[in-house]
Amino acid sequence: MTSDRASWASRVGFVFAAVGSAVGLGNVWQFPFQTGQNGGAAFLVVYLGVVLAIGFPAMLTEFVLGRRSQRNPVDAFAALGGGRWRVAGGIAALAAFWILSFYSVVGGWVIRYVVGSATGAYFDAPTTYFSEVAATGPDAVAFHLVFMAVVVAIVAGGVEDGIERSTKLMVPSIVVLLVALAVWATTLEGVDAAYAYYLSPDLATVRANLASILPSAVGQAFFTLSLGMGAMITYASYLGEDDSLPVDGGVIVVLNTLVGLLAGFVIFPILFALGVDPGSGGAGTAFVTLGGAFAQLPAGRLLGTVFFVVLLLAAVSSAISLLEVTVSVAVENTAWSRRRAAGTLGGACAVLGVPSAFGHLAWFNAVAYELLLPLSVLGVTLYVGWVLADDATAELERGASVATPSTAWLWFVRLVVPVGIGLTLVLGVQSLLVRAGVLTEAVLLA
Ligand code: PFF
Repeated sequence: MTSDRASWASRVGFVFAAVGSAVGLGNVWQFPFQTGQNGGAAFLVVYLGVVLAIGFPAMLTEFVLGRRSQRNPVDAFAALGGGRWRVAGGIAALAAFWILSFYSVVGGWVIRYVVGSATGAYFDAPTTYFSEVAATGPDAVAFHLVFMAVVVAIVAGGVEDGIERSTKLMVPSIVVLLVALAVWATTLEGVDAAYAYYLSPDLATVRANLASILPSAVGQAFFTLSLGMGAMITYASYLGEDDSLPVDGGVIVVLNTLVGLLAGFVIFPILFALGVDPGSGGAGTAFVTLGGAFAQLPAGRLLGTVFFVVLLLAAVSSAISLLEVTVSVAVENTAWSRRRAAGTLGGACAVLGVPSAFGHLAWFNAVAYELLLPLSVLGVTLYVGWVLADDATAELERGASVATPSTAWLWFVRLVVPVGIGLTLVLGVQSLLVRAGVLTEAVLLA
């Protein structure tokens, strides 16, 4: 079965695909706002610390598991002699399926706004357009289906001809267009105030809110690095022996962070130029506030179209990695062809997304973010750190073109990452209970 398994045509192909997975709505849509609201450069330092101490080592565990097993996330554990751990892979696959269902709804919004920017459809009423026309209802379902169809088509095309080929086009386009937008944004009025809001280090905010900032930084790091959903396990399982996991991982982490930063250099000057309050966050921010800005800016149609195209490319290149997780599980466990698996699973996922397109997106997001994601990262890191152990360090070193501090890595995986996740998990479950009304208010770190 392994001999005719899919693989990347080149190492660069893997890096592009993985960067495509990592760079997504999380970078362009969430990250800049989170930084702006939580203390700017001071938050950035905390976040980078979390990415380095927790995100990067955790990403390498997924790479190690995927490449060593050459299997999908569910069977990877059994292939390496840890059959009982496959439940962690099961949670990862479930998380991927679950998240894709509403990620695709947001993807549908983005398509809608690409068209709406080009035609000026939302320019007269940017605020009500989002809530009344775009966000929920039959239209939202329709655009969600279009987005999912694109994702299915790419994944059905295969690892090399579908995913690798498309991300090689999408990822450079995202970077080039975003740089162009950031350069243009320097010409806007109020750009200095925007940079100051975005990046001036506000230690007091960070210190006062560290208890809530830390877990949300951990959650954000996992989400933006595409961890906990089996995506990186799956992509690494298509790798050959001579790739350098630490170097590839480093490139992915750095590029992913740079794109998030860059998005802020686009978003905040636009908001400041029009005196829009950047703190008015929430799920619709990119659509309502930025849509409102594009409606007023000269050349707003063009700029809006370019911006939402960037967002769309980022969303598609991430969504395909989510669908690939369950497709790889299906293809390796049934007689289904890749096309059939992509169509069936994409279709089922589209159905699961319908409630999100009718206003329940926040709940779906919370379950994923606060429960499924940390649980699955915990399973993978405990398995790799404590069960695979020496095999894991050997795998990390195999093909590594640089000196690899694999023992230090192992201890980060064994101790630092689980502690970080434990904290997020406890706080996440607490907030789910508060949301469900079981707890009236937060007890821990309130
Ligand atoms: N990393 C993506 C983002 O930042 O939007 C989201 C994501 C994609 C998470 C794929 C997980 C994944 F498997």
